[in-house]
Amino acid sequence: ATCPVMVAPAMDEDMWHHPATRENLEKIRQHGCSVIPVGHGELASGLVGEGRMAEPEELVQHLEQYFSRSGQLKGKKALVTAGPTYEAIDPVRFISNHSSGKMGYALAEELSGRGAEVTLVSGPVPGKHSLNGIHLVQVKTADEMYRACMEASDYDIAIMAAAVADYTPVEVADQKIKKKEEEFTLRLKKTGDILKTLGGQKKNGQVLVGFALETTDEKENALKKLSGKNADIIVLNSLNDKGAGFGGDTNKVTLYFKRGGEKEIGLKPKTEVARDIVDSITELL
Ligand code: CTP
Repeated sequence: ATCPVMVAPAMDEDMWHHPATRENLEKIRQHGCSVIPVGHGELASGLVGEGRMAEPEELVQHLEQYFSRSGQLKGKKALVTAGPTYEAIDPVRFISNHSSGKMGYALAEELSGRGAEVTLVSGPVPGKHSLNGIHLVQVKTADEMYRACMEASDYDIAIMAAAVADYTPVEVADQKIKKKEEEFTLRLKKTGDILKTLGGQKKNGQVLVGFALETTDEKENALKKLSGKNADIIVLNSLNDKGAGFGGDTNKVTLYFKRGGEKEIGLKPKTEVARDIVDSITELL
């Protein structure tokens, strides 16, 4: 088929989870097909589980959304960062965080689905991810992520969803550090702030989006990041809500706009949060 292809899988749960099925789905995604998520419920075998074909209403919804949004960002270049960074201490140890990369990957896919040419700069994330025609640049350290982003700074849309390490060891030991003293001090230095640097270089027409994750004075700190890093939108992750933030498949966020105003996005799958964020970006464009 030369037209866009969507696949709605339907099978028994064990087959759905089988590595062969996973690999084949990955392959057809890489060929540019989009895969509509399966449902949970009664299966043809009489068992109940995952693998049930999405309900016809959901299929229609997917098609409608696809056609209303596809092509909207054609000709636009997007840069997305995702995942954590690894800052080496010695050959076997590193400093990192709990970021899964899921939010960044969902954003990259959403942008790509609307026709944007997407570069995804990703730190190390577990598992394989579908990448419909997205240019993936895999990096490990904050410094590598910084350099990869500077090379892609002619973007129309940039979304910094990565949890970049703010500090990195001053020295990386050549050999594994042996335990000796009761106390051990690690000296750290600041990493380059990608969002802030891009904010400083921002040209007319470019839309720059950053993320914030705060444990205190959430709104105040998010607004500080908005002006301090010259972003157009700051997406505040809510750490205090169940089902939101690191690792999971759902998120709850609030968007703060440079032009003023805010928008709350209730708890929902990260793919849908991504859709809402990209809707707001598209309005700004
Ligand atoms: N960020 C970045 N480069 C860094 C650090 C952070 O691009 N070296 C980006 C993140 O991707 C995110 C935003 O900046 O979009 C907020 O990151 P955060 O670490 O919370 O901001 P900081 O300014 O470091 O403030 P603090 O850690 O004190 O909250």
